[in-house]
Amino acid sequence: MKLSAQNLCWSAGRLEIVRDVSFEVASGEFLGIIGPNGSGKSTLLSMLAGIRKPLSGQVMLGDMPMRSIGSREVAQKLAFVEQQAETAERITARQAVELGRTPYLGPLSGWSVEDDTIVDAALDNVDMADKADRQWHHLSGGERQRLHIGRALAQEPRVLLLDEPTNHLDIGHQIDLLDLVRRQDLTVVAALHDLNHAAMFCDRIAIMDNGRLTAIGKPHDVLTAATISSVFGVDASVSPDEDGICHVRFRAGGRRRISPTKDDFT
Ligand SMILES: Nc1ncnc2c1ncn2[C@@H]1O[C@H](COP(=O)(O)OP(=O)(O)O)[C@@H](O)[C@H]1O
Ligand SMILES: [Mg+2]
Repeated sequence: MKLSAQNLCWSAGRLEIVRDVSFEVASGEFLGIIGPNGSGKSTLLSMLAGIRKPLSGQVMLGDMPMRSIGSREVAQKLAFVEQQAETAERITARQAVELGRTPYLGPLSGWSVEDDTIVDAALDNVDMADKADRQWHHLSGGERQRLHIGRALAQEPRVLLLDEPTNHLDIGHQIDLLDLVRRQDLTVVAALHDLNHAAMFCDRIAIMDNGRLTAIGKPHDVLTAATISSVFGVDASVSPDEDGICHVRFRAGGRRRISPTKDDFT
């Protein structure tokens, strides 16, 4: 299912946080959003998820304006894992994933064997099947994060929105998680911090800078030394690795305005 942002704007008082952002994500595409802290990535994702109402502009889910779709139906199509996702404390790991089935339950459609099968598969997918009976408050940050993704997968969405999904994860689980997400037959929009992960896993990358979408395209078109320098203020070199995936190397001491070099005084 495709997802589009059409002229999305959001402000906090007079402060413009997201400024006129438009793009379209094709069905099955993985779009990464990168950008400095405070550039508006989370605000944009929360509008795409239908949680924050745009001040102007609209989100299209498939061919329908999101605001015309009921929240239960949205939740059957789209799942969102927030940056600081939290969950009630007194539940087990499995119960946290079972929450993903909520949009399908109703007075006439109670919990079924099929729901159990879907939850089992989601737990397995995020490598948490062996910890299914653990209490939430006994789990590590990384295990909780994997369960949040498991909950989102149990929701069986067509579109998955992820806000810094690899926070708290060790490198093995970071790669596993992005690989798992990519292998799903899903439209994915994910705010990512690691530029090399974005290059490895995303079909396209969008850059947010100061509330604006300043670039969107294939990783090798978007991730250039000049862009990285102007957006993040960091010196980097970018070269393709043996698989043709662009690889970003950062230079120590290259951060502008933070550690002046001799050249700054001459
Ligand atoms: N509800 C709000 N009220 C005031 N400022 C906000 C609110 N939400 C976000 N902001 C501000 O908007 C800017 C962008 O935030 P955010 O979307 O979280 O950026 P990012 O996810 O790229 O770090 C930040 O400066 C943040 O403090
Ligand atoms: Mg954020």
